[in-house]
Amino acid sequence: MSLLQESEASRYKRMAAERAVELIQSGTVVGLGSGSTSALVVHRLAALLGEGKLKDVVGVPTSLETESLARSLGVPLTTLEEHPFLALTIDGADEVDPALNLIKGGGGALLREKIVAQASQREIIVVDESKLSPQLGTRWPVPVEVLPFGWNSQALYLEGLGARVVRREAHDGAPYRTDQGNFILDCAFGPIARPAELAAKLEARAGVVEHGLFIGITSELIIAGPKGVEHRR
Ligand code: 5RP
Repeated sequence: MSLLQESEASRYKRMAAERAVELIQSGTVVGLGSGSTSALVVHRLAALLGEGKLKDVVGVPTSLETESLARSLGVPLTTLEEHPFLALTIDGADEVDPALNLIKGGGGALLREKIVAQASQREIIVVDESKLSPQLGTRWPVPVEVLPFGWNSQALYLEGLGARVVRREAHDGAPYRTDQGNFILDCAFGPIARPAELAAKLEARAGVVEHGLFIGITSELIIAGPKGVEHRR
């Protein structure tokens, strides 16, 4: 395959993203997720606004990266402070189980993504079918955002819960920093039998700012694969 050709996974991500953008109505405020699939959502939204097929749509970005992409494409932005309740957010995911629970945070934006998701009436997740999983933790570690203060105490706590813990690094080998300046600990638990129980244990620990388990938050899932696009509610 030529380097110029779109990979299968990218094509499916684009198909899912384009279907999701059809759900946006003119005159609405929409949460804009983070990651490569969400970037395709922003591109499509920008194109429809440019063609006049959508009007007066304003986005709430879930990361500095999405904010910068949306600005570069001319998508009008606002903040959650201005609009604390959103009708709709479209975001990606790293792993999705049959109950539509998720692991998110591969791009490090899990805290703002969860804040925006919980402020949204509809959280619409867009994925290519490779993200589907029988049980969370099978194919992706759980990213846990921790304060740099005492971070290695949190790493020990997470190991005590059964995880193999790796502090995420940036490309230059320095610790990766989230948009809030925190660290990410990627926690490989293996298949997680009771994700809600694990989420509660993570939330009980001071120094853990947020984690990438999104339990009971997704309202709709748009999946694309070789058979086309499926919209699960
Ligand atoms: C970022 C995320 C992303 O939504 C997730 O990592 C999926 O990314 P991609 O669409 O690039 O596969 O949670 O924090």
